[in-house]
Amino acid sequence: MNPLTNIMNDRAEARKQGDSNADTCFLALADKDGQASVRTLVLREITDRHVVLFLNRTSPKWQLFQQGANYELLLWYTSMQRQYRIQGTMQPLDREIVKQTWQRRPQGSKYLDYLYQEMAPQSSEIESREQLANEIQRLKQSYKVDDMQAPADVGGIELIANRVEMLDLNREDRIHDRRVFSLQDGLWTVKYLVP
Ligand SMILES: Cc1cc2nc3c(=O)[nH]c(=O)nc-3n(C[C@H](O)[C@H](O)[C@H](O)COP(=O)(O)O)c2cc1C
Repeated sequence: MNPLTNIMNDRAEARKQGDSNADTCFLALADKDGQASVRTLVLREITDRHVVLFLNRTSPKWQLFQQGANYELLLWYTSMQRQYRIQGTMQPLDREIVKQTWQRRPQGSKYLDYLYQEMAPQSSEIESREQLANEIQRLKQSYKVDDMQAPADVGGIELIANRVEMLDLNREDRIHDRRVFSLQDGLWTVKYLVP
């Protein structure tokens, strides 16, 4: 009955089938004026309770979370023909986990995180790509990758699901299966929706 268990199983199957969406997700946020924004993110972990994402706290999406923006996380497993839409609450990820996981990031991502800290926030405007390349070059000369530590603004979040909607297109009778799962007092309940 826990829809997150279904997602974990579908994701494992999607990975086996080489589904290019198996490791990503799409995070939509609305600001206080109702302006929507959506972006692709790597889905770091999913458990029977939450989804873990990594982001930089200089970014607009983090600012939106700070303002209490509502979110919806969308998963689409092409190989399974199944879509999930997840809503709920969020909380920052434990700092120690962020620091340890950061060490496994690719070199380029590490230098970018240093750049957000030392030059300009993520998603801010820059003069040119050349300026960006020069700054990365400067960082590479200043810091050996093996000595680098997670900067203060590297962050992670746990999205704690309390509503999950599933749409399954993969039905023999061709009638799509759409269900909404809601968590109340620790119990998931299901209702059926018109697809
Ligand atoms: C496949 C893919 C994976 C991505 N993964 C992440 C990620 O894990 N974390 C992240 O901050 N941005 C990731 N991005 C970049 C975001 O989509 C986005 O451009 C960036 O985070 C800035 O978002 P914002 O301006 O809305 O804060 C990814 C983009 C793609 C295409």
